[in-house]
Amino acid sequence: MTITDSKYTEVMHAVEAGFAKHPKRLPSWLFYDEAGDKIFQAIMHMPEYYLTSCEYEILQSNKDKLYQYFSKHDDAFDLIELGAGDGLKTEIILRHFQDRKAAFRYMPIDVSATVLSSLTHRLADILPKLVVHPVNNRYDAALRTLYNDDVNRKVFLFLGANIGNFDPHEAENFVSMIASRMRQGDQLLIGFDLKKDPRLIQAAYDDPHGITRQFNMNLLIRLNRELGATFIPDQFRHYPCYDPETGMTKSYLVSLRAQDVYIAALQTSVHFDRWEVIHTEVSQKYDIPMIETIAAASELEIVDFLYDCKHYFCDVLFKKKN
Ligand code: AVJ
Repeated sequence: MTITDSKYTEVMHAVEAGFAKHPKRLPSWLFYDEAGDKIFQAIMHMPEYYLTSCEYEILQSNKDKLYQYFSKHDDAFDLIELGAGDGLKTEIILRHFQDRKAAFRYMPIDVSATVLSSLTHRLADILPKLVVHPVNNRYDAALRTLYNDDVNRKVFLFLGANIGNFDPHEAENFVSMIASRMRQGDQLLIGFDLKKDPRLIQAAYDDPHGITRQFNMNLLIRLNRELGATFIPDQFRHYPCYDPETGMTKSYLVSLRAQDVYIAALQTSVHFDRWEVIHTEVSQKYDIPMIETIAAASELEIVDFLYDCKHYFCDVLFKKKN
């Protein structure tokens, strides 16, 4: 079986299972096909999407502090990035660590082989002396193999508010899973987007340029192309909604009329009532007590909170409890 075949099967099953739920649901990894990757790049460049520049600022102003934390033990370490993406932010610390002659290798983990190979090529270009070991796998499978064979101390990066795609309970499970594999001396840096003025958060997911709308709509275009579905994107509305009480932003596609959509790959039609929703994404916002709850549940100790100057975003450094 080729990679394309298994990807196709995965998409098909995810869509079948998601549309059987109430409300209908699509998993957020579906956003990131070639077009979705590009639209997400555009999102990261919008002024309304404050997350990227905030974390960039945090890494820029704390790169030496991070070098001190990560190299404290004086031994070589593996810098393992979960969901590396384009690695643009990571580049700041990679460059700095190299300048400081830190002994480490960089291991970006990503499910997308395309994203990984372009990242690896770009790093070979700009930081030719950097030792890069890309791991093309899902997080859990990758983590298992990482701990199988070697003894290097490990530092994990989970940046960009990617943890926000989990609800708080799922986030707890995910961090616990990583924590259970960490050893004494291992560290974990997670980027959390923080609760703030609800209007600012709402605007980040409902931008006036319509780029986030395009990102959400791309799901339907992808299903049309890959599964022979017959969605008419204009028959759905992009609707993101931030709840300042729970900190959860949910994104929806709302059906503007009663309609039946045929999906060739599933040999079936899916019915949508007027105003029925497809829930397409969770983007969870955190406060400090919520982050402390995650640390407690996964038996990790918080070492430091690193903020941007506006305190919009926070990179939190955790370590395995002694
Ligand atoms: C990549 C999950 C961090 O939720 O902020 C951006 C994705 N969705 N705009 C986020 C996204 C809509 C993003 N993450």
